[in-house]
Amino acid sequence: MSNNNLSAIDPSSVPQRILRGGDKMPAIGMGTFGSDRFTAEQISAAVKGAIEAGYRLFDCAAVYGNEDMIGDVFQEALKSGIRREELFITSKVWNDMHGKGDVLISCSKTLKDLKLDYIDLFFVHWPFRNFHPKGAPPDYHNENARPYSHEQYMETWYQMERLVKAGLVRHIGSSNMTIPKMKLLIRDCTIMPSANEMELHPCFQQKEFYDFCIGNGIQPIGFCPIGSPTRPDRDKTPDDIADIEEPVVVQIAKDHNVHPAVICIKWAVQRGQVPIPFSVHSNEYISNLKNVTIDPLSESEMKKLESVDKNCRLIKGQVFLWDGSKGWEDLWDIDGTITK
Ligand SMILES: NC(=O)c1ccc[n+]([C@@H]2O[C@H](COP(=O)([O-])OP(=O)(O)OC[C@H]3O[C@@H](n4cnc5c(N)ncnc54)[C@H](OP(=O)(O)O)[C@@H]3O)[C@@H](O)[C@H]2O)c1
Repeated sequence: MSNNNLSAIDPSSVPQRILRGGDKMPAIGMGTFGSDRFTAEQISAAVKGAIEAGYRLFDCAAVYGNEDMIGDVFQEALKSGIRREELFITSKVWNDMHGKGDVLISCSKTLKDLKLDYIDLFFVHWPFRNFHPKGAPPDYHNENARPYSHEQYMETWYQMERLVKAGLVRHIGSSNMTIPKMKLLIRDCTIMPSANEMELHPCFQQKEFYDFCIGNGIQPIGFCPIGSPTRPDRDKTPDDIADIEEPVVVQIAKDHNVHPAVICIKWAVQRGQVPIPFSVHSNEYISNLKNVTIDPLSESEMKKLESVDKNCRLIKGQVFLWDGSKGWEDLWDIDGTITK
C-alpha cells in the first residue's frame, strides 16, 4: 500500500475530536455498509483507496458482512508502515448477539475478521434483540421481536464493559438510541458510553438529542450524513426528503463549487458530530475528506443549514417492530417515554 498518492490528504490536517479519557478520533470517517447494493470486494477496495487518500477512521459492523475482507486491507496497511494507533476502527455487536457470553463471541469474531488485537470503539448496534435477515424486504416482520427491555440492554452493556476491562476494546458506545433510553443507560452503567452513533444530516438534525449527548460528554457519530441516497429499499418511503436536493444545500454547494454531498459533510464536521460518509467512488470519498480541511462554511451558511432541518428520519427501523406495535415511531420514543 502506497502512502505517496498524489491526491492524498495529510491525516494530521484532518480535524480531531477528543473522547472521554482524552483519546482522539478523526472528525470524519468512512462508512462500510453496502446497503445490500455494494459487494464486500467493492467496499474493501474503497477502504484501501480511502486509507491511501488519508482516511484513518472506519465504521465497521459484523452485520455488514465484509469485516473479513476489510481486515485484509487493515493488515496490509499496518504492514506498509501505518501504525495501529494512527487508525481508529469502530465495530458493532448485532442484535442477535446480545446478552451474556454472546457479546464476547461477537467481539472476538470481529477482531479475528478485522485482524486487529483491539477495537477503538465498539457499539451496541441497536437497543433491541430484534433482527432481520440480510436483504429483508420493507414489510419484513419477525414474530419474536419485542419492545425495548432495559434489563436486557444492561445485560448486554455490562458485557460491553467487560470487553473494555479485558483490553479488547478501548471505548464503548450506543447506537439508534433515544434520550429516555440514554438516561437509563447513564444511570445504570459503570462505564459511560464514549459515543452515540445516530442518524444525522441537514434534514434530520436531532438537536435535542445531539445537545443531550454533548452535554453528557458523549460524542455523536453521524450516520447517513448525506441522507443515504443509496440506502436499502426497505428504508425508503414516499415522504422522505433528499438532503442533496434541498435548495439551501444546493445553493451553498454552487457557491463553494462542490457537490451538495460535500456541504452535508462540511456542515456535520463544523457542527461537531463525526460524519461517516460511505462511497465506493474515489472521487467522492477523496472530495469528502479533502473538503473538511479547506474552505470552511461561514457562520451565516451554518445558520442557513440549521434552518433546513425537516425532522426527516430515514432509517425508521420498521423491520424491528414487534406484534402490537403501532408503527415505526414506537422505536423512537417520540413522546419522551420508552414505548412498551
Ligand atoms: N449505526 C447504524 O445503525 C447505521 C445505520 C446506517 C448507516 N450507518 C453507517 O453510516 C455509514 C454512512 O451511511 P450511508 O452509507 O447509509 O449513507 P451516506 O453516507 O449518507 O450516503 C452514501 C451515498 O452517498 C453518495 N455520496 C457519497 N459521497 C458523495 C459525494 N462526494 N458526491 C456525491 N455523492 C456522494 C454515494 O452514492 P453513489 O454511490 O450513488 O454516488 C453513497 O453511496 C454507513 O456506511 C454505515 O457505516 C450506521
